[in-house]
Amino acid sequence: MIAAHTVFCKAKYPLPGGKPGVLRYDPPAMRVLGLETSCDETGVALFDTETGLLGEALHSQVDLHALYGGVVPEIASRDHLRRLLPLIRQVLDETGVDRPDAIAYTAGPGLVGALMVGAGMANGLGAAWGCPVVPVHHMEGHLVAPMLEDDPPAWPFLALLVSGGHTMLVWVEALGRYRVLGSTLDDAVGEAFDKTAKLLALGYPGGPALAALAEGGDDQACALPRPMLNRPGFDFSFSGLKTAVMLKVREAEEAGCIEEARAGIAASFQRAAVDTLIGRTLKAARAQHAERIVVAGGVGANRLLRAELAAAFDGTVHYPRLRFCTDNGAMIAVAGALRLNDAEEPATIRATARWSLEALTAPGVNGQGHG
Ligand code: KG4
Ligand code: ZN
Repeated sequence: MIAAHTVFCKAKYPLPGGKPGVLRYDPPAMRVLGLETSCDETGVALFDTETGLLGEALHSQVDLHALYGGVVPEIASRDHLRRLLPLIRQVLDETGVDRPDAIAYTAGPGLVGALMVGAGMANGLGAAWGCPVVPVHHMEGHLVAPMLEDDPPAWPFLALLVSGGHTMLVWVEALGRYRVLGSTLDDAVGEAFDKTAKLLALGYPGGPALAALAEGGDDQACALPRPMLNRPGFDFSFSGLKTAVMLKVREAEEAGCIEEARAGIAASFQRAAVDTLIGRTLKAARAQHAERIVVAGGVGANRLLRAELAAAFDGTVHYPRLRFCTDNGAMIAVAGALRLNDAEEPATIRATARWSLEALTAPGVNGQGHG
């Protein structure tokens, strides 16, 4: 598991086992509570730096937002507020732990109102329990999620981060040492899945439903573009693919055969999106001489992407388990455990809507480049 950390605590709050006023503490093990509230999932988990994940709980707000066809920020914040404390209680009760040794929370990027619920709760509980808090970058959480698995990736690795808001290829030298090789010029791939699903009347968020519909369809049914595959560099673009799908849907509707065509359109879209992701990822892996690839973020749950990338790449491909591909508290708890050197006094509430992954530094170096 993750090695015990030497914590340099800037806080006046002593770490557990430490004496007041003692700033340096070498804990044998730290139990880190992770809180995720950046978007539409309320996630809570307890992670032990020696024994691993102790427990976790998740509440999805999908049903609340489905009515509106997308996330409504105000509704998201209110629901996080309602759910967070009961979920924390549940995880502590289930694991038989009175209080954690540190609290990690998602400090950004994300919806500010939603982030503030987690940030306020983490700092409030940190002050009450006298334990340090660790602000975590949401995408760093996704990056380290595969470390919860039995065969965690070693540094360095190439990461393909694919979620509803991001599509990025990142060269990860070590924790906090990131170089973004490419990202999307327009829509994120998860967004393209969601918009295509909407066109096919699959509701919100449509990624999983679209993937399910695609299983029964012919992926050669429609000719769709593989955007950017022949361009230099490692950037992505998904808006052309989205427009091409829109035209296919319109054609089928006008021909009166949309019902029969839906599965084929879904399968052809999924195939085009996956081919694009894999083509760019393999190219970046060759350029970096990567031996390991990590796929993280919600679209990392896509079975076609998982199977095809593993088959096409010579080295090892690491994924979090399906449940930890989408937003969850466990990835924030692990990232917090790795960043205990960035623990803060529970008085600084950080909620940063836009926060570049490349602004991060190694743990213990100059904070975390908060915007
Ligand atoms: O990482 P995530 O939970 O939230 C963000 O940080 O955005 O990712 C959510 C995205 C949504 O766009 C959702 O449709 C997509 O991940 N997604 C999938 C699948 N499961 C979730 N896309 C394709 N196939 C899936 N199986
Ligand atoms: Zn996410």
